[in-house]
Amino acid sequence: MNEYIRRIDDCANFLTDFFGSIPATAIILGSGLGNLANELTDVKSIAYKDIPGFPVSSVEGHSGILSCGRLDGSPVMVMQGRFHFYEGYDMKTVTFPIRVMSRTGIRHLFLSNAAGGMNPSFAVGDIMVITDHINLFPEHPLRGRNLDSFGTRFPDMSEAYSPRLVEKAFDIASEAGISLKRGVYVGGQGPTYETPAEYRFFRIIGGDAVGMSTVPEVIVARHCGMEVFALSVITDLGVEGIVNKCSHEEVQRAAAAAEPRMSHIIKRLADYCNRN
Ligand code: HPA
Repeated sequence: MNEYIRRIDDCANFLTDFFGSIPATAIILGSGLGNLANELTDVKSIAYKDIPGFPVSSVEGHSGILSCGRLDGSPVMVMQGRFHFYEGYDMKTVTFPIRVMSRTGIRHLFLSNAAGGMNPSFAVGDIMVITDHINLFPEHPLRGRNLDSFGTRFPDMSEAYSPRLVEKAFDIASEAGISLKRGVYVGGQGPTYETPAEYRFFRIIGGDAVGMSTVPEVIVARHCGMEVFALSVITDLGVEGIVNKCSHEEVQRAAAAAEPRMSHIIKRLADYCNRN
């Protein structure tokens, strides 16, 4: 067996033993959205560094903890701290946790991220349900020999983001009086934010928001047959004529302000997936 798969299987077996039972839904928390993990009850956690063979996270504000617990009663796995391509990890490492999740039996994957908005109807603080993406990363996460035990060589991407979960999220939001946007997420390598010309280009090619994560994980999750749902919090604007100066601190501040709305949607969706 290939060494990469053996390492994935070892991590999955370790985690299954450690947690006892693994929920069907996992949530990857993005920039400034880490507080959802504090709301878990009946929680058991482990640092990435204590999972043999698991990569370790380096970026400021990303903690590197995997937990299983209940979110408003629904069993979930929560990953705090992801591996970004801009940190220097290769795509096999960026997406390693997704394959481990798949092996432990995760069937629904929720992700969140911070993104710059290019759609002129967006404002800082808006939440965008990702309905589709454009992959602009310079390396494809499925490049190389296909791992047939996870999925097919040429995976379909026509419904990368679950249409039923997108619609359910809008129902949940309208019941709670939360306004949501929908749109296409452009994933690029970073770590620079965009120049005005790049924002304009991403808008022209069909993007509504741009960020530095999510796309590789979604591709691998779909390869593994998981159902995917993802939210972006719009932390700055790259709209023609109003390209803001953008800093990591501002991104974290805007993401924190969106957190109560975002976590409401995630909690209700976790409950929905648990029942359906
Ligand atoms: N561009 C890329 N990534 C981001 C941005 C942005 O404007 N905002 C938050 N993450």
